Parts: sequence; C-alpha cells; structure tokens
Amino acid sequence: MHFPNRRLRRYRVSEGIRNLVSEVYISPKKLMYPIFVWDGATEEIKNLPEQFRWNISDKNLYKFLEKLIQHGLESILVFGVATEKDKEGSLGWRDDGVVQRFVKYVKKEFPELVVATDVCLCTWREDGHCGVAKDGKILNDETLDYLAKISLSHASSGADIVSPSDMMDGRVKSIRSALDKAGFENTLIMSYSVKYASYLYGPFRDAARSAPAFGDRKTYQIAPSQLREAILEAQLDSEEGTDILMVKPALFYLDVIKELRQKFQLPISAFNVSGEYSMIKIAISQGVFDEKVIMELFTSIFRAGTDILISYFVPDFLRVKIQ
Ligand code: PBG
Ligand code: ZN
Repeated sequence: MHFPNRRLRRYRVSEGIRNLVSEVYISPKKLMYPIFVWDGATEEIKNLPEQFRWNISDKNLYKFLEKLIQHGLESILVFGVATEKDKEGSLGWRDDGVVQRFVKYVKKEFPELVVATDVCLCTWREDGHCGVAKDGKILNDETLDYLAKISLSHASSGADIVSPSDMMDGRVKSIRSALDKAGFENTLIMSYSVKYASYLYGPFRDAARSAPAFGDRKTYQIAPSQLREAILEAQLDSEEGTDILMVKPALFYLDVIKELRQKFQLPISAFNVSGEYSMIKIAISQGVFDEKVIMELFTSIFRAGTDILISYFVPDFLRVKIQ
C-alpha cells in the first residue's frame, strides 16, 4: 500500500502554522505612504478615491498622520502640488516653497518619521515636463542643475531622502555631488531608476497637476517592452551613487523587481502607482472583490523581492480612516 506524503497539507493546517511557514511577512516598517501637499484648499483627488491634496495648514492632515504613525507607519513620500507655475519651475526650489515648508513642519512635529520627497520639474513648470523643454525637445544636461537645486532645498528643509523621478541621465551623480558639497552626506537618494512610460500614472497627473502640455514622456521614460534597458538604467544609477533603486509601476512589472533583486545588492523600492490603486480601490468599493485583496497585492510585490513598498493603500492596510 502506498501512502502519499501529506507535508503540504500540514503546512496549511491552521492560521498559526500558515504564518510560521509564510515566506513573506509584511511589516508597516517596510511601507511608505505617498502624500500630496499644496497651498490650495484640501480636496479629494478625482479618480484617486480617499486620497487628498492637503493644505499644509490643515489640522486634519496632522491628525491623520499621527494616527498612521500610531498604527506603525514610519515613512512618507511627499509630492508638492503647484498652485502657481512658471516657465522654469522655480517654485520647486524656493526655500518658502510648499514642500520645503511642509517638510520643516512635519519633521518638527514627528522627528522620527522618515520623510522622502519627490524631486522633479513637472508640477512646477508651465509646460508640465519633467525636464527643461525647448522647441519641443527635452534637454537632458540643462535639467541636472535644477534637479540638484530642488534636492538641496529639500535636504536643507530636513528631508531624509530625496527621490528624483525625472529620468534624466546623470541626475543621481549631479544630486549626490551637490548634496555632499553642501554637507548633506547623510541624505539618501532613492532614484526612480526604472520608471516605465505607463498609462497607470493617469490619476497622479491629475492629482499633481503635472500632465505635459505638449508631447508625452516617452522620450525619457522606459518603454514597457524593455527589461534589459531597465537593468542598464539601474546599473547607471547604482554607479552614480543611488542608495535605493526604485521600480515603477509595480504590478505590471513584477518581473523587473525580481530581476533587479537578483542582479543588485542595493535596497529596492516598488511604487504601487495611482492607477494600480484606483483600479483595485474602485473595484473594492463596487463590491467586485473583498478588501482582503490588498493583502494579496502587497504580498505579491514583496514576494517579487522588493524591500520597500510605496502605496496609496497604506491607510487601508493599517486600518486608519481619515477623521
Ligand atoms: C512625475 C511623477 C509621476 C509619478 C511620480 N512622479 C508621473 C509621471 O511620470 O507622469 C507617478 C506616481 C503615480 O502614478 O502614483 N515625475
Ligand atoms: Zn516629473
């Protein structure tokens, strides 16, 4: 008589056993929450349900942050939204810019909170491009000084991590040397190393009011077909001195996370972007599936090999409601 091996059944026999053998264990310490701040009135973002453009004087913002921190949140990624724009995008690096004022305040109120800031030109420039644009073209090298200036002003305001999302070649090096020269050797760079030209950023562009006025971002972001090119991008950023490699979006690009995990020793972050959030959030709200799908989503991205997960689902995951 042949007896089958029942080992796999034993692994699944109870919740306690399933937890013990679980290959992925998610801690709030590994999560980063993206947050939009501006000088306009607080308002919910269209197509990004339950996410807000917060006025930085809004008490509810700090109550909300406090609750998230009580539930274990340890880091945020800050996006400034412009109420005013100009040709160069100078509000991006002004000491009294909205990101700079918010970071100063939040580091004073919550000194332990790790604050990362998105560094880019698109929300501040009239033309909505991530780089300096002239005659319909994006000028790579001309953009680098501006990104360094923005990074420096964020670091001076107290940001722990600066996160360039523009995809210009050479920006990590230029930001690193500007930071070091000014004495910010301990400020980390988390570069959006592998940023695909994705339609999943749709809701974000509305949120950050950063849609390009002409053309698209395909001349600087990676085409969805490219895996080897993604590795080259990560390689360059790693050589230039990035501290953390980011992959973005996450869900359609899990293979890319896995590939980078195998090829690089640097920490990896994955950005579960606005469109990924919206499609699942809206489906949950319509009863298409149970909200436990959020755990499955997070698990899949960690299983692919990320160290850090950036997601708009963090409040849902931590069971924190606004108000
Ligand atoms: C802009 C930027 C984008 C996102 C982060 N920074 C959009 C874009 O490149 O058009 C997307 C984030 C999201 O969709 O949640 N530099
Ligand atoms: Zn940009």
